[in-house]
This record gives sequence, structure tokens and C-alpha cells, in this order.
Amino acid sequence: MENKLSTSPYKGTTDTYPQDMLNRNYMFDVWSSVARRFGFEEYDTPLIEETALYVAKSGDEIASTQLYNFVDKGGRDIAIRPEMTPSLARIIAAKKNELTLPLKWFNIGKYYRYEKPQKGRRREFVQLNVDIFGIPTLEAELEIFQYIFAVMEEFKALKETYELRVNNRYLLNYLFEEILKLSEEKKAKVGRAIDNYSKLGKEAFIEYLKELELNDKQVSSVLEFLTWTLEDLKKIADKSEGATQLIELFAKTEELGLTNIRFEPSIMRGLLYYTGTVIEMFDIGSKENPRALLGGGRYDDLLTIFGEEKLPAFGFAWGDIILEDYLRTYDLLPTLRTETKVFLPLFDTKLYTYIQKIARDLRTKGINTETQLTAIKFGNQLKYASKKNIPWVMIIGEDEINAKKVQLKNMETGEQNLVTLEEAIEAIKS
Ligand code: HAM
Repeated sequence: MENKLSTSPYKGTTDTYPQDMLNRNYMFDVWSSVARRFGFEEYDTPLIEETALYVAKSGDEIASTQLYNFVDKGGRDIAIRPEMTPSLARIIAAKKNELTLPLKWFNIGKYYRYEKPQKGRRREFVQLNVDIFGIPTLEAELEIFQYIFAVMEEFKALKETYELRVNNRYLLNYLFEEILKLSEEKKAKVGRAIDNYSKLGKEAFIEYLKELELNDKQVSSVLEFLTWTLEDLKKIADKSEGATQLIELFAKTEELGLTNIRFEPSIMRGLLYYTGTVIEMFDIGSKENPRALLGGGRYDDLLTIFGEEKLPAFGFAWGDIILEDYLRTYDLLPTLRTETKVFLPLFDTKLYTYIQKIARDLRTKGINTETQLTAIKFGNQLKYASKKNIPWVMIIGEDEINAKKVQLKNMETGEQNLVTLEEAIEAIKS
């Protein structure tokens, strides 16, 4: 016997069976219907891109360790997309003169990263990307914040279970340049340490900063920075553009009555292209989901990698795995049943054509209808319909045909009635 192939999916990927698809579609429907409610339009890009697109600006972690890339038969270095943002910038740069600003676009698609699979992180995952191009002011941020909160409301998430944390890259630059006076190389390393602050814990964080040869004064400056509040920002507002922007942003969130949002100096974000505001959202009601639910920021310079002028942009991405984990943690996934409304059993192969014609009629009236295809034992047909959670069974045998009626069985209550086809349709539709 030859070696048998494994039935397991590739490491870090998941097979989605029809039952799981119901949850997935529910989440994606909420994402996209709320996006449309805000006037966002859907777009799409290819799953593969030239590797250079990610090397330019995605940052070390994605470009060097997490990229699935290969040389194609024509000798081109190709990568399967690890994120959307560079592709989005590319397609906007390509048609910049034809597109009417501002652009408010969204997409739901699959991404691949060579990561260590762990809770909330897989090698294959879906992201919702929502981005706004052409708005240089904080109204872009506020629009996205309101979208995120509207989605959380739609999921019926309790306010005390999530929090959007906001920082600003210009403020971090102020720390690196004005307070710590770091070299370019060290900026990136200290930035990565800050990004991992909550994961490392204070002790390991200090240890790491010392390994990077930060002196005691610099280490204590970093620690102090991480305790800063909006009040502290007011003291440096005239010196840091980041502080000014954060103060203005939080004044506006307050005016709009947005809650569940706060300034958090440790939010850094790993990606290289961010310029101003950066955001991440966390589960704060449990210890089940320690990783960010979503992440994003402003990236006003990204179009320059295509030789184009800068174009203000702000957006974020939200992963499906962590969202589903979050919704499960708080029991927020509704009980979903199949979308098939009615099942038509088959008693005898002779009745096949008759049943098919009834099914065709039901389908043209908008009723999702499944028919039994082979005349097996009736009990097993009923079991099948019940296992699939189909709410109605329409039983049609010789007697019913002669009486020009059907037996309509409500699978939830078990009640069964002899009615006309029209009456049955009415009951199913109600
Ligand atoms: P990111 O922080 O790399 O940002 O990913 C955003 C979200 O995608 C994460 O918060 C998480 O929900 C999900 N995600 C990322 N990696 C994985 C993984 N390995 N497994 C499961 N879920 C994952 C970006 O990708 C930016 N391009 C977002 C953006 C859009 N910035 C501006 N516009």
C-alpha cells in the first residue's frame, strides 16, 4: 500500500464545514452590512502580488519571516498577500486621477502569514479591511471609530467587554527623538519592545531595554512615558504634533459621545507605514483573548512607494478568528439554522418528477427547497431533515396528490396538517 495522504488541513489553516460557514457568514454579513450603512464601497485585489510590495513598507516581521513567497515559472518573486494595505495603496495609485476623493472602501478576504499557530493567530485567516483615502483631518479617524462601535453594537457586545486603544506615531517619534535621542536603528528596536510591552511584562521589558544599551535615565524615561495620560500630553502640546492630535481627537470623541476608547502610550503597531494615529482594540472583560481584535492607523505616505504624491489615508483590519473567539467568549453567536426552509420527501421513484415540479414552483416563489433524491425509508428521510434543522417537511404521496393537498409538518412542534399548496406556502413564508 502506498503512503496514505493526510486528511488534516495544512498547519495553521482550518477546514470550514457548512455548519461553521453559518457563523462565518453571520459575522461577515454584520461587517459588510454596517460598512454599507456608512457608505463604504466594496473592492477586491489579487491574492498574489510581487514580493517587493511587502518588502517596501510592511516591516521586518511580515516581510522577512511571515511571508509565503516563491519564484514563479517566469522568474518573478511572488508573495501570497499577508495583508491588504499595500495592495490597496497600489490600486489607488494606479487610478489616482480617475477616482473621486474621498474613497471609503472595504473588503473581506483571506490572508496568509507564516506564523506560529496559537490562540487568535493562524497561518490562514480572513480580514475585514476598512479604509478612507483623501481625508487629512481627524474626521477620518472618527468615521472609522464610529463604524467599529456600530459593528460592536450590532453584535450586541457589552460595553464593558471591549476597548479601543489609541496612540500616535508622532508622539512616539517625540519620545524617540526628543526625549531618548535614539539612532534610527535603535528607534525600530525600542519601538518593537514597546509593541511587546504587555506581552513581556515590566521586568523582561526593562531587561530588554538594557540589552539594547539604553542607559538608566533612558529606561526610566520610557517607563514614565508608558504611564502618560491625556493630562500629561497637554504639557507637551506645543512641542509634539502627536500630542496635539491626540488631544483634539479625544475632545471630538467626547463631543460625539463615544465611549470605550482611551489613549494608550504603549500602542505602537508593527507595520512601518503608519504616520499618525494608531489603534488597536482589545477584549477587556475576560482573559480569554489577550491579542488585539483589530489594528490600524494612518498611513499618509504609502503612495510614495509608487512614485506618487502623498495621499492621506486611515484604516484598519479586523480578523475573523479573534472575532469569533471573542463572540464565543461572551456567547454572542446566535443559534443559526440552515437556510433551507422546506424538505420534500420521496416515497416512490414514480413520484420523482411530480415532486421536482412542486420544488421548482416553491423555489420560484423564493422558498429554499431541498428534495429527497432517492426513495429510501421514510423514517430516515425525516431524520435527515431533522438533523439538518430544516423547519418544514412537505409530505406528498399518492393520497395527497389525489386530494390535491399536501401534508405540512412543522419540525419544531411536530404538528402536521393536510392543507393546499397555497396554504402551505403561506405558512412557510410567515
Ligand atoms: P495587523 O495588525 O497585522 O494589521 O492585522 C490586523 C488584524 O488582523 C489583527 O488585529 C488580527 O485581528 C488579524 N490578524 C493578523 N494576523 C493574524 C493571524 N496570523 N491570524 C489571525 N488573525 C490575524 C494589518 O494587517 C494592517 N494592514 C491593517 C490596516 C488596514 N492598517 C490600515 N489599514
